[in-house]
This record gives sequence, C-alpha cells and structure tokens, in this order.
Amino acid sequence: MAESTPQAAEPHRAQWKTQWGFLSAAIGSAIGLGSIWRFPYVVYENGGGAYLIPYFVALVTAGIPLMILEYGIGHKMRGSAPMSFAKINPHWEWLGWWMVIFVMIGIELDYSVGIAWCVSYMWFSLTLAWGADPNGFFFQQFLGVTAGPHVIGDIRSPILLSLILVWVLNWLTVFFGVEQGIEKANKVFMPLLFVLILILVGWTATLPGSKEGIVRYLKPDFSRLGDPKVWIDAYSQIFFTLSLGFGIMVTYASYLPRKADINFNACVTSLVDTLVSLVAGLAVFGTLGYMAAQTSKPFAETVQHGIGLAFVAYPQAISLLPSLPALFGVLFFLTLTIAGIASSISILEAFSAAMIDKFHYSRKSVVTLLSVLGFLGGIIFTTGGGLAWLDIVDHFLSHYGLFIACILQCALLWVYGAPRLREHVDSVSLFRVGRLFDFSIKYLIPAILIVLLLNDLMTDIRRPYGGYPW
Ligand code: PHE
Repeated sequence: MAESTPQAAEPHRAQWKTQWGFLSAAIGSAIGLGSIWRFPYVVYENGGGAYLIPYFVALVTAGIPLMILEYGIGHKMRGSAPMSFAKINPHWEWLGWWMVIFVMIGIELDYSVGIAWCVSYMWFSLTLAWGADPNGFFFQQFLGVTAGPHVIGDIRSPILLSLILVWVLNWLTVFFGVEQGIEKANKVFMPLLFVLILILVGWTATLPGSKEGIVRYLKPDFSRLGDPKVWIDAYSQIFFTLSLGFGIMVTYASYLPRKADINFNACVTSLVDTLVSLVAGLAVFGTLGYMAAQTSKPFAETVQHGIGLAFVAYPQAISLLPSLPALFGVLFFLTLTIAGIASSISILEAFSAAMIDKFHYSRKSVVTLLSVLGFLGGIIFTTGGGLAWLDIVDHFLSHYGLFIACILQCALLWVYGAPRLREHVDSVSLFRVGRLFDFSIKYLIPAILIVLLLNDLMTDIRRPYGGYPW
C-alpha cells in the first residue's frame, strides 16, 4: 500500500496487478450516471448521429490529449495529484489539492446521493411502487421537494438508508486498497455492466416501437453542425465524462508499472467510454420509443433527460412492459448503480491517495474518516431542499471548477515542458503522439476551455442560474 514510511528514495507504491485491472478502474471512473442518463439525450438534442462528429473531434483534440497528460504525469511522478504536481514544481502542489478537494466536496457528496436514488429505485421496482404517477411519486413522495434551496425540509429516510449503503460500498472498496479493493471490484463491475447494458438493449429491441425511438436517437441532422452550441456541448461533455481535471486519472496512473503503454491506455479508456454510452443510448431511446407507441404521445413529449429520464420517464415505461416489468426495473437501476459506484470510488481514491502521500496516514484510517465525513456531508442532499442544492452545486462546480482546473493543468505543462512529458509517454508507448500533442495541450485545449468558461459566464450573468437569486 501507499502507506509508506517517510520518503524513501522511491517509497513502495501499490501497483495494478494487470493491465485490465487498471483499464477497468479507469473505464469505471469514466462510465457513470452521466453516460447513461445524460449522454444519449445530448446526442438526440444535438443532431443525432451528426453529433458524433463534434463529439469525436472533441475527443481527439481535447479528451485524449488531456488523458495522456494525466496518465503521463501520474505515471512519471508516481503520485496522487498534489504530490505529482509538487514534484514538477512545489509551487503547484495547491492545484492538485484544489482538484481532489473540489471533486470530493463538489461532486462526490451529491453524486453519491444520485446513486442512492438508484438504489432506492431498485427496491421500488420490485413492486412498481411509483404506481400510475411516477412524476408525483418521485418529486413529492420520494424527494419531498420543497419550495427552493432556502427551505431545507426534512431528511428523506429511504434516501438516507440507501446513502448509507452507497457509502459502505465506497468505503469497503477503497479501504482494501488498489489491488485488493479497487482492482478486484472493477474487474467484476465492468464486465457485469457491459452484460447488463446488452441485456437491456436486447430486451428493448423486442418491444414494439423501439426501432422508431432508436431512429429518432441516431438519425443525423447535419444542419445542426453549424450551431456553435452543439460544439460547446461536445467539448464541455468530454471533460466530465472522461473524469478529467479531478486528479483521478493522475492517481490511477500512478499505480501503473514502469512499463505501461500510456497512449494506448488513454485511447482505449476514451473509446470504450464512448462506445458504452452510445450503446446505453439504444436501450434508453428504444424504451422511450416503446412508451411513445403505447401512450400514442408524440415522441418528443416522452423524451426527458437527467433525473427526469431515469426516475420519471423510465419508471413509466417499466410499468407499461408486457412481461417481467419488475425485473427490467431492477436491471436498469442496477446498471446505473454499478456505473455510479465505480465512479464514486475513483473520487474517494483520488482524495485518499493525496492524504496518504502527503501525511503518510494509514489508508484504513484515511478512507474510514473520509467515508464518514462524505456520508455526513451528503445528508444535506437527502433533504427536501436537496434537489435544488444538488443542481446548484453541480452547475457551478462541474462547470467553472472543472474548466479552471483543466486550464491550470495545461498551464502546468508550460512549466514542466510539454515536449518533456511527450518524450516520456512516447518512450513507453507503442504509437507516438508527436508534436501535435504539445500544440493541443499548450494552446488548443486552454483556448477551448476559455471559450467554454466565457460562454457559461455570459449565460449566468444574463440570467441567474436556474432562476435562483444571486
Ligand atoms: N465520468 C462520470 C460520468 O460520466 C462522472 C465523474 C465525474 C466520475 C467526476 C468521477 C469524477 O458520470
């Protein structure tokens, strides 16, 4: 484990047992709730199949280079984000702390509550507890939504109970360390996730109307490519979905053996994430198509995204299924839960590894303390005002916080030297990235991120976010 005695020349560091162990953990971090309940909708909204063009452009020009950067730094420096950055230049250690703290507070606390909702819904699926009104059930009965973030309301006990379960899983996995916990868990989670998604796709394909839904999902509308919003959406999605800018991939790569193909791993992680999200979209839109056919509603009216999709539209569709609706529901929410847990353990690991590297505390005590604090901090999101808080925290931290962190991470490469890092990654990789990597990291990605940042800022200044008071 990383719980080493004070700084020996190269303290013993945990190491992935296999290449697949590392890849499944990194892919597990990338595939998350966003891949299933957000990605398909963004595709549909932004020109269907045509959206894959900006998406792949964003993947190749920003996602993969940044992932190579994060893998490269972690692999070379063999440390969590703060430690790796400090090794580059001690003045930059704070950036690593900023990343791991903000992902822990800004994302992990509310993300775990999102997973807790899925756990609760797995349970509700058994009896189709939402009845004839999934909307009322979700917002009133389950969340007990209050008038806004200023009215906290009471703690919702089903959410709280599920949240305890989520944190026990987070805790147990990270507690046992890189090989015995994270690697072992992801080696089970990822194949299971792929199989579950394939079952859901196969099942939906048998439902009448599903093909119509899938056509709506993927039918390309090339005219949308002229709209800058489509490109902005593609770029802003890439960073979050690949878990970049959070110190996670730096940490995971720090456990790679010296001989590990960085460039190849970065491509595989990004491509598998994309492929799985795309395929998950078939199940999502197939089901929506079925529902539109059953309710004779226009397709556009059945489509929802984010929580509306998972907790309102989907339950409604599940209730309409001709056979075994409870099983379908359990499988769908289990898929979301597994995708979510594999992401949330990566966040907990990024923060824990930072504390272990810096203070040499034992892994077991750091992880236990952080899990208790993470659970306690998440309680605010289990209240009636929780949804509004979740929305606010998510918007501000996962946009501004993330974009700024990524810009600074590129700036750090100005300090270290992009060619120096490129030489390192190329020296261990089968195919080389070439000088385009330097250009991308030094100029292109920061420029794109600044555009994204300004775009968000202008929108929020024009109209306070979500209509909430400033
Ligand atoms: N990549 C995950 C998703 O798409 C989200 C995530 C963000 C995971 C940050 C870890 C850290 O849902």
